[in-house]
Amino acid sequence: MPSATIRVPGTTANLGPGFDTLGIAVKLFNRVCVTPAGKPGVRITSVIADDARAGAEQMLGEAAALFFKRTRTAKFGFDISLTGDVPIARGLGSSVTARLGAVAALNELAGTKLDRQGLLELVTELEGHPDNAAPAIFGGFTAAGMVADSVRLLRCPVPSKLKFVTLIPRFEVSTAKARKLVPLSFSKADTVHNLNRSSLISAAFALGDYEALRGCFDDRVHQPYREQLIPQLSAVIRAGEKAGAIGGWLSGSGSTIMCLTLEKPDAVASAMRRQLKDSDVHILTADNGGVTVVR
Ligand code: HSE
Repeated sequence: MPSATIRVPGTTANLGPGFDTLGIAVKLFNRVCVTPAGKPGVRITSVIADDARAGAEQMLGEAAALFFKRTRTAKFGFDISLTGDVPIARGLGSSVTARLGAVAALNELAGTKLDRQGLLELVTELEGHPDNAAPAIFGGFTAAGMVADSVRLLRCPVPSKLKFVTLIPRFEVSTAKARKLVPLSFSKADTVHNLNRSSLISAAFALGDYEALRGCFDDRVHQPYREQLIPQLSAVIRAGEKAGAIGGWLSGSGSTIMCLTLEKPDAVASAMRRQLKDSDVHILTADNGGVTVVR
């Protein structure tokens, strides 16, 4: 059997108040190459960061097992390599690039039993929430959630005039640890605050009314509780806004901080970086294509 190579975009999830629901794919990509092997099991030939090898082995083993079970495909062992620019544990969807890349590659090798919706159902089951999986698969802006036992997904394209100024700190944040900090219940006022803003964000992207996003990324459900892991969060967002950004948010569970701007992306990037020098800053645009098979 030949090998299959998949390109998966990184993603920025939550967009502030859209916790576990909203996401956007960005033009930062990982590549996953799967080659069937003679012996059973998963053998990782290269990973993005060497310290992630042990975690990746388990994660990819689980992804493959679920793929074989759901598609009733006879199991086969494989070699897998993960390369690219989406860093691990920075809130840019690296776990989805690995899980989705593996599953999409196995899907190619097994005769494309799953369509994009099928990939979404499977990767959401692995991840526990669809907010990174949905944009990584379909591209663009996505709103996604479980509705009656399946993942409901609505998307719209995002134009290249919108710049995503992406500040990636040198430190990692564990999603599991960051999720433990989110409270189990919220006041009526905080719930309504987030419902307002999350709905407004969806409507603004659907209508292409990006100025209406100003002030809407302000979250009360997870960012205030996670700020102890990323103490510069508010200062970086404020600096970006002062330099001209429409607004900013913690990307996924961090550590990346994202600002969205229609103007002066370089000034926004410099202002953000002044607040957290130990970081890399990229000016990205959205990826509207989603996961692709590399021919
Ligand atoms: N919505 C998720 C979270 C994204 O904020 O925990 C990280 O996978």
